Amino acid sequence: MRAPNDGPFADPAGTWNKRFAGEDFLFGTAPNEWLREHAALWQPTQRVLCVADGEGRNSVWLARRGLQVDAFDISEVAVAKARRLADTQAAQVNFAVAGIDDYAWPVAAFDGVAAIFVQFADPALRDRMFAHIVRSLKPGGLLVLQGYTPRQLEYRTGGPPVLSHLYTEPMLREALADLDIIELRDYEAEVTEGSGHRGHSALIGLVARRR
Ligand SMILES: C[S@@+](CC[C@H](N)C(=O)[O-])C[C@H]1O[C@@H](n2cnc3c(N)ncnc32)[C@H](O)[C@@H]1O
Repeated sequence: MRAPNDGPFADPAGTWNKRFAGEDFLFGTAPNEWLREHAALWQPTQRVLCVADGEGRNSVWLARRGLQVDAFDISEVAVAKARRLADTQAAQVNFAVAGIDDYAWPVAAFDGVAAIFVQFADPALRDRMFAHIVRSLKPGGLLVLQGYTPRQLEYRTGGPPVLSHLYTEPMLREALADLDIIELRDYEAEVTEGSGHRGHSALIGLVARRR
């Protein structure tokens, strides 16, 4: 029987460096749709953090909207590609190579946090990540989060095929009880995000505010 820490979750940097090794952008260069729909909640010059930002599609797009953007990811290959994407689009992003557990999370620093498809996290890592996110938001700051629900196990068009990593509405309400939920939507949609997320998908989107 497989131990929970076997497989792709045992060496996240190595696993993701291999996934990002190609010339293409695995999840494309356009921003995630849930983020695009909700980014107007932040005003230009406000400070936003992109958690596990991958190849930079979300951070670069937010920076081009006039936001001050910090971003980190555990994969140095991804962050190198993100830096190149920012250069080609003349966008300023403060990138770092770091994992959830070793990022230098500032406290009450961000007007927003974007956590888009961060379901690499098992329940224990997810608890630590959500605690960091909540503490890093200023009072009034907004979390914009996108993930997959358990129905995604039938579709297999993206995301980890591991039930405990997926989100449900009650789970997010409980895990993020320190935030006021502004919007929480369980829905299905066609997703076209590079070759990594493609096809009919069972999604969940959340917007929540720190008190
Ligand atoms: C599905 S991708 C999403 C990337 C990006 N948020 C996007 O929407 O394009 C998941 C990302 O999480 C990163 N990652 C995996 N484990 C991590 C960890 N423990 N800490 C920080 N980043 C991690 C991977 O390198 C990868 O870029």
